[in-house]
Amino acid sequence: MSENWLKVGKFDDIPKLGSRLVKTADGDIAIFRTSEDEIFALRDSCPHKQGPLSQGIVYGKKVSCPLHDWKIHLDTGLAVAPDEGCTASFPVKIDAGIVYISLDEKKTEE
Ligand code: FES
Repeated sequence: MSENWLKVGKFDDIPKLGSRLVKTADGDIAIFRTSEDEIFALRDSCPHKQGPLSQGIVYGKKVSCPLHDWKIHLDTGLAVAPDEGCTASFPVKIDAGIVYISLDEKKTEE
């Protein structure tokens, strides 16, 4: 596991069923919070045509892309079938109410 944790901000500042956009040296990353208060981080780029997933609608553990409504799994970045594709997902941790992400992409098994 990476030790290169990047501080994103307070957990409480991420709206439930919403997201926050973080600009990193590695590009824009969207941090999502589910109704269950889980946090996930995906590259802010839909695997279809790079739509801004941070502006999509979160439901369950998925986000629907604002452009053409593809559904993306928040935990893996994989598109929900029948669509195919994968956006990068990143490890997240919460420590004392502060959210951190690692820029070392999670490896997704398709
Ligand atoms: S760019 Fe996301 S569904 Fe088309």
